[in-house]
Amino acid sequence: MLVRLPGVYPAQHDTWALVGALKQVTLGPDSRVLDLCAGSGVLSVCAAKQGAGRVTAVDVSRRAFATTWINARLHRRSVRVVRGDLTEPVRGERFDLVVSNPPYVPAEAAGLPHSGIARSWNAGTDGRAVLDRICVQVPDVLNAGGVLLLVQSALSGIEKSQTMLEERGLRVDVVSRVEVPFGPVLAARRDMLAQRGVIGPGQRSEELVVLRAVK
Ligand SMILES: C[S@@+](CC[C@H](N)C(=O)[O-])C[C@H]1O[C@@H](n2cnc3c(N)ncnc32)[C@H](O)[C@@H]1O
Repeated sequence: MLVRLPGVYPAQHDTWALVGALKQVTLGPDSRVLDLCAGSGVLSVCAAKQGAGRVTAVDVSRRAFATTWINARLHRRSVRVVRGDLTEPVRGERFDLVVSNPPYVPAEAAGLPHSGIARSWNAGTDGRAVLDRICVQVPDVLNAGGVLLLVQSALSGIEKSQTMLEERGLRVDVVSRVEVPFGPVLAARRDMLAQRGVIGPGQRSEELVVLRAVK
């Protein structure tokens, strides 16, 4: 069971796709895991339950910070919870595994929300405002041999993520793909996305992809 303060992202298809990929990774007492964009902390709790010795959760939202803290305690798992912008709070540290389900939904406007639950999904007009920063920042916080598991929609450029990570020396594979129906956010943006040519006419589902990048 997970608790969730109002305004915190509820675990859903993308979360579960990442949980599935996380369960394929072997973790032990020496494993250092970073959950970037932690939300409810579900991925942190999952990594700790899988045996990771040191789990750090980062989220920019105060409510997500509090929710992750509560969920870690409810599940009697040790998770260091830090509030801040992407890898900024862990600068200088190194991790064996980074898991991330960032905001990746193309929005009407380029600017990112500073508060509210829309901060969980709105990611600029191309959906890449946070993804691009993750692809730049994460290689610097991974140990050699360390792994990034990143989930995103095909609507926000899988190849761009792949290319950016490969340019930084990582080996990238797609480890899972799942087609899911548009939720309320994308359903409300269908006309806008069709006008931009991001989706086809009548399209009502998106592909979620989990990338595995090894340093
Ligand atoms: C899609 S939710 C994912 C939540 C959870 N990891 C899951 O899979 O269910 C994205 C989260 O990213 C957080 N976030 C957005 N921008 C961020 C940033 N610049 N730095 C850290 N967290 C951020 C939001 O507050 C939100 O909790």
